[in-house]
Amino acid sequence: MKKYDPMVTPWQINEQDFPRDGDSAEKLQFLLRYAILAPSSHNTQPWKFSVAEDEIQVLVDRTRWLKVADPDQRELYISVGCALENLLIAAEHFGYGHQVAYFPEPTNEELAVTVKFMPHGEPSPFREPALFDAISSRHTNRKFYEERPIPQSDLQHLQNRCVEEGIWLHMTDDLEIKRKADELIIRLAAISSEVNNRELQVKVGQVFERVCLAATILGIRVHPMSQILEIPELKTEVSKLIPKSDVFPQHTFRLGYAEQEKGHTPRRQLEEVLV
Ligand SMILES: Cc1cc2nc3c(=O)[nH]c(=O)nc-3n(C[C@H](O)[C@H](O)[C@H](O)COP(=O)(O)O)c2cc1C
Repeated sequence: MKKYDPMVTPWQINEQDFPRDGDSAEKLQFLLRYAILAPSSHNTQPWKFSVAEDEIQVLVDRTRWLKVADPDQRELYISVGCALENLLIAAEHFGYGHQVAYFPEPTNEELAVTVKFMPHGEPSPFREPALFDAISSRHTNRKFYEERPIPQSDLQHLQNRCVEEGIWLHMTDDLEIKRKADELIIRLAAISSEVNNRELQVKVGQVFERVCLAATILGIRVHPMSQILEIPELKTEVSKLIPKSDVFPQHTFRLGYAEQEKGHTPRRQLEEVLV
């Protein structure tokens, strides 16, 4: 067997390897190969999964929580939401229906989600089939972003990926943010929620990952910028771009055109995140 290269092997996933003749749990486990390609805060991959016959539990791995950078665990739960979204996109690709229960045990904040799978499901209209192919080609892009504007129709397409109740995606073309001595003009997007709770943070992650994948297809690059929400004066600027009052900004990122990133970031082997 070839040696596992964390920068390469997990990204070379081939849908032909789906174990069609395997048992139900083996099939569900294969879907997780897509889940672990999700972005996460500082690539911490703070997730664990427990696979049963027709169900996957998605768990938060608190041992991977960055206590200083993410004191309120917002990024921790958003990251888990990104992995959940990849899982659901892969499930729909392989024909499954699914039922998601968020925090099914109210006092257990570690168990983020239980997903029940059913054969022969209808794909969701906001998860177009091409999102599946984008899972292994998505990157965070930290390169220089051009001035070129994103066409309105593409912005609208990204906007339509945000369907969750209580979650808003706001994008602006001309936000000017002054960061220390530098002046930074960026096309910024912010995802905010009506209530500041764990369930909506997981859903913010789902929307973010959906937008990342849709952007990948359109050739639009994405760069999360969490630090913006950590600096009070920048957070105030972000709040100004959100036309709704009384919402909680949860995740900020820039969008635009830039040279492609080369290579992928590493991922742990799936076996390491199974419990
Ligand atoms: C919730 C969240 C917050 C993030 N914050 C930042 C950030 O502030 N700055 C940054 O450069 N990347 C940020 N990232 C991107 C991660 O560093 C990136 O997803 C991870 O290194 C894996 O690389 P990949 O996205 O190219 O697969 C964030 C990602 C997530 C999901």
